[in-house]
Amino acid sequence: MDIQTNSSCLSATYHPYPMAPIDGKGCYLIDDKGNSYLDFMSGIGVNIFGYGYSAWQQAMIKQIYRLTHCSNLLMNKQAIECAKLLCEKTECENVFFANSGAESNEAAIKAARKYSHDRYGDDRYEILTLTNSFHGRTITTLSANGQSLFHQHFMPFTAGFRHVHTNDIDDLRKKISDKTCAIMIELIQGEGGVNEISAAFAAEIQKICDANDILLIIDEVQTGIGRCGSLFLYEQYHLHPDIVTSAKALGAGIPIGAVLFFHKTANVFRQGDHGSTFGGNMLACASTSFVLRHLDEALYHAIRENGIYLKQQLLQCPKVESVSGRGLMLGVAFDHLFAQNIAQRCFENGLLVSTAKNHLRLLPPYIITKQEIDHGVTILKAILATESK
Ligand SMILES: Cc1ncc(COP(=O)(O)O)c(C=O)c1O
Repeated sequence: MDIQTNSSCLSATYHPYPMAPIDGKGCYLIDDKGNSYLDFMSGIGVNIFGYGYSAWQQAMIKQIYRLTHCSNLLMNKQAIECAKLLCEKTECENVFFANSGAESNEAAIKAARKYSHDRYGDDRYEILTLTNSFHGRTITTLSANGQSLFHQHFMPFTAGFRHVHTNDIDDLRKKISDKTCAIMIELIQGEGGVNEISAAFAAEIQKICDANDILLIIDEVQTGIGRCGSLFLYEQYHLHPDIVTSAKALGAGIPIGAVLFFHKTANVFRQGDHGSTFGGNMLACASTSFVLRHLDEALYHAIRENGIYLKQQLLQCPKVESVSGRGLMLGVAFDHLFAQNIAQRCFENGLLVSTAKNHLRLLPPYIITKQEIDHGVTILKAILATESK
């Protein structure tokens, strides 16, 4: 079958590069024509061990030979093991498993509203999110997204979201009301252009939440599971969230999402309040347990070090204006160039990068080496040297 001529069988929601990977090794993907590409996007922050990582493959094969799925009507050893690891590695008290980032955020939003309804009754349901934020593409998470781009075509959207200007403490104070039940934030806005939340703004959010019994929900779908150099980025901000959502890297390539409930929210969901056929899928949980057992201080250290090195190298490239982000989640802003054009030229030269707004967004696998960073930066540098404003 010719892949390109048959691609119209897929709904036209994506506009992929004309390349179909069929294999991979380490940080490189190989297409059906035998070309290899250095992957600085890892399936948009998912393939943290790169490709052909044999210990992970063995763990998956072992699970496939036993069971891949059982319903939530039975006890699920893989889900329990995986939840226990998340509880041990954080201060969360229990976990709900979903299948994606958007689903995890949906569950978090439901839990926040129920927490507030149980204590304060009908009228305290509003959730504040930030301008430029991205939380998913379901009808409710579209409402949560603080970008007007997402508030079209699919009306009516879920009511009850207000958007606060990112890093604007005055606007935050203005938008808090006796209707507010939660504040939901990304600490680095991934899709929004790799924008970092300032420490002062994050601290003010925490203070307001603590003083008013408003829940703090941190969306770590992109920033979490080691991506920024710690298990979750909230640790680096010294925050104590009530709910954390996770996905992407969590399953290292097998779809899974998780909602971590901390002390205040641990007993909000009761039998029947939420559910998912595939939530807690055995194969996905076996993958996540593998991921959690392999994330340790040495790996976080390597992610931080390689992130600093990559940032330094990028800053030496012509026409690079600034580099934002932490660890292996970096955004590159250019002086008068279109990121999408640069990404296209990178692709043509064997380097895969994603974009977010007018930034290149780099999310390489955690196994990346300095030599591979040098290879990627050499490609980018050569492109930028010939690109005119
Ligand atoms: C911060 C954040 N939240 C939620 C999502 C949605 O995740 P998913 O695509 O798995 O639904 C994304 C996806 O990019 C994300 O970056």
